[in-house]
Amino acid sequence: MKVIAHRGASGVAPENTLNAFRLALESGVHGIELDVQMVDGVAIVIHDRWIQKTTNGTGLTKEISLEYLRTLDAGGGQKVPTLKEVLILINGGCIVNIEMKAPGCELAVMADIDYALQELNFSYDQLLVSSFNHFSLQTIKQLNQHLKLGALTAALPLGYAEFASQLNAWSVNACIDFVDRNFVDDAHARGLEIWVYTVNQVEDIQAMLELGVDAIFTDYPSRALQYLNEASAL
Ligand code: G3P
Ligand code: MG
Repeated sequence: MKVIAHRGASGVAPENTLNAFRLALESGVHGIELDVQMVDGVAIVIHDRWIQKTTNGTGLTKEISLEYLRTLDAGGGQKVPTLKEVLILINGGCIVNIEMKAPGCELAVMADIDYALQELNFSYDQLLVSSFNHFSLQTIKQLNQHLKLGALTAALPLGYAEFASQLNAWSVNACIDFVDRNFVDDAHARGLEIWVYTVNQVEDIQAMLELGVDAIFTDYPSRALQYLNEASAL
């Protein structure tokens, strides 16, 4: 089972910052997940549309300028990074799961992915683009058929992973609250991986291992890696 650092090592460093991503890389994770919003036409890495939850500024991402955003503290004196800066830092060192949060961010995200593939040490296999917005997933797949899609769901659909098959996704990325044997088996029968968020407690890690999920998103990657290592499940 793979370990994906959720917003970086966000349990021990401010989420979605270069420090959180650096710590995740140093822990030897299989992958890093990050969230993308848009500011001034640039893909930036922050979870919320409103910036006040994780910075000392206020405002909506779609209404502020990049210049203003870059003056703010995202924790420990760090700035809100751009997607490009994060890709440069990781540089093919592990999988990157880019979660598109902002409607209309697909072209900007695609440009950064092209840069990662052409100028950095990334391969297609190391990039997974996910979203709860399935129209965004359709749009980015139309821009590049080779991209691997992670179809996110915060609900348990009546057709289990059928929606992900319809999207021609590579994985279904689902909330731990409802992941069960039926959902896992249905995803696997469709040839899809199943990645589960957010899995922090060891009891939950154990349960996901027993269900046979392919990857967990966790805020504490070192804890998860240590647990799985001791269980010989890496
Ligand atoms: O991509 C998995 C997970 O990050 C989705 O939810 O709200 O943490 O971005 P959220
Ligand atoms: Mg996310």
